[in-house]
Amino acid sequence: MNGYLSGLLSNGTIQQTEVEVAVAAPSVNKITIAYGTETGNSKKLAVTFAAKAKKAGITAKVVSLDQYRLNDLPKEEYFFSLISTHGEGEPPAAARKFYDHIHNNGFKLEKLKYGVLALGDTSYPLFCTAGEQVDAQLEKLGGQRIIPIQKCDVDYEHDADSWFDLLLHRLSAPPTINEVAVAAAPVVIKKSVVKKIYNGSIVTNINLNDRGSNKQTHHIEIVANDEIDYLPGDALGVVPENVAALVDPIVELLGIDRHKTYHFRHEQMTAYDLLKKKLNIFFLPERVVAKYAQLVGQDIPPTKIGLLDLIKIYPLKNNNQFGQLIEILEPIAPRLYSIASSPEAHSGEVHLTVARDRFKVNDEWKYGLCSDFLTCLPSETAIDFYIHRNSQFRLPDDDKDIIMIGPGTGVAPFRSFIAHREAIGATGKSWLFFGDQHFVTDFLYQTEWQNWLETGALTQLTVAFSRDQSQKVYVQHKMMQHGQQLYEWLASGASLYVCGAKHPMSTDVEDTLMQLIEKFGNKTIEEAAQFVEQLRDEERYLKDVY
Ligand SMILES: Cc1cc2nc3c(=O)[nH]c(=O)nc-3n(C[C@H](O)[C@H](O)[C@H](O)COP(=O)(O)OP(=O)(O)OC[C@H]3O[C@@H](n4cnc5c(N)ncnc54)[C@H](O)[C@@H]3O)c2cc1C
Ligand SMILES: Cc1cc2nc3c(=O)[nH]c(=O)nc-3n(C[C@H](O)[C@H](O)[C@H](O)COP(=O)(O)O)c2cc1C
Repeated sequence: MNGYLSGLLSNGTIQQTEVEVAVAAPSVNKITIAYGTETGNSKKLAVTFAAKAKKAGITAKVVSLDQYRLNDLPKEEYFFSLISTHGEGEPPAAARKFYDHIHNNGFKLEKLKYGVLALGDTSYPLFCTAGEQVDAQLEKLGGQRIIPIQKCDVDYEHDADSWFDLLLHRLSAPPTINEVAVAAAPVVIKKSVVKKIYNGSIVTNINLNDRGSNKQTHHIEIVANDEIDYLPGDALGVVPENVAALVDPIVELLGIDRHKTYHFRHEQMTAYDLLKKKLNIFFLPERVVAKYAQLVGQDIPPTKIGLLDLIKIYPLKNNNQFGQLIEILEPIAPRLYSIASSPEAHSGEVHLTVARDRFKVNDEWKYGLCSDFLTCLPSETAIDFYIHRNSQFRLPDDDKDIIMIGPGTGVAPFRSFIAHREAIGATGKSWLFFGDQHFVTDFLYQTEWQNWLETGALTQLTVAFSRDQSQKVYVQHKMMQHGQQLYEWLASGASLYVCGAKHPMSTDVEDTLMQLIEKFGNKTIEEAAQFVEQLRDEERYLKDVY
């Protein structure tokens, strides 16, 4: 019976609750928990699970997938992967090598017994895809799935815990007559937890840039009726709506009845509401364009394009095809914004720092969907949002020093950090590097930083305004100028935080960090790299870049 149920279980065709107690896995004393993470959630779970396993008498080796020795995989017996999904349904960068390895190599995993915990966000069109693919691929390579994949939404703790409890139960159930007793004591995985959606209202929405600036960066304050459960370092997730100026011409061009209702992923809505609030029509991914090409029976080059342009160039055969069009369209993906407030300092509120994204397409200026949506929201508008936890971007103990590199909107979490540290009376020193184009127009939250310098909540502020002199000056140049002091802070235990643009800012900052450690720490390049590695290991070099 065990064999039969294991078979069903391994092909993932039956519900966990049906089988969870009937399969008795052999007693196990060693497992590997390999995590692939971008924002630290999978890592946090891996560490918690390892501690739980230890209590249950099982030694768990915890390893990041980017550190995992791929040659060890065929030797593994019990291998559990905790992996999130990022980008457009992709594995996190740190898991890419592993992901490619299992997809591109035709080896056999005969010994492997495995399970996958997939972290994701149900608001994205491709929910937990990376985890699903790893789960399927390990099976293809011959691995035996001993627990069904558990897909978790952003409030993942409960589902993840239940999954791991069930796993421990399976691993520790001895294959003896005790099986009968075990079977009588079911471990029940409850229904997946749906993430908490807060209903808020805009109370402030102001442009922080002065007249004459090239930028438009808004400080947005949102109040919610509920207590908002977040920590400094977390981000807010929001699903924007499409603008009427885009929806109206689509309705007109398609010649559809805007009031007619349609079904889309468990919801019934009018054609207009679907186009306005649910469907990504702004900039379609290539995979949707490919499906559209099939729908209209035309050759369309693989490209990203807005729905309006698509239907103008390649019209639907008739307006009856609208129902089929809905089926191939995807929901609007959420966007994340670092939270710029602190629950200790701004009770019942979340603050954001949102740059209105402006770009040119064929000589025409366009705005990014969500940043345009948010920066244009008038006061008192209702807004739904959720919290995206970032376990990898947390403040250290109150008495520890922090160095924050946050040019542009990268400054947002550091406003949260300092407000928080002031509110709780933290004693550690703090040093902010801020940068933008011009001192006069782009010094985001200038008066707040100056006040915090006066009160001592902020110890030191170093600014770089790139376009106020003939030669461009960025935060990394200022880091080098203050290299001696910066190195001394790091050598005495400070944590270094970097937030803002991934490219080129965060890579330039990292290069400079290496150079200044080499120069002011009197080290070889290898020693400087080791120093940075140690900062990472001690969770004292933390990045939140996008
Ligand atoms: C963890 C995290 C924290 C973040 N924190 C912040 C923050 O604090 N503040 C902040 O401002 N941002 C932040 N961001 C970035 C933010 O989430 C959004 O990515 C950003 O606001 C742009 O989104 P958008 O919807 O406005 O633009 P989108 O509509 O998503 O467009 C993005 C880009 O896609 C291209 N594009 C879109 N449509 C077209 C088209 N029709 N034709 C050609 N090209 C097109 C353009 O290059 C455009 O710049 C964060 C991101 C992450 C992941
Ligand atoms: C930029 C970005 C893109 C994301 N894309 C997806 C996605 O396509 N599908 C999905 O299910 N989740 C997506 N997520 C949600 C994450 O998988 C989820 O927040 C998860 O808890 C992160 O776990 P980690 O911290 O271990 O990386 C995305 C998150 C971010 C920040």
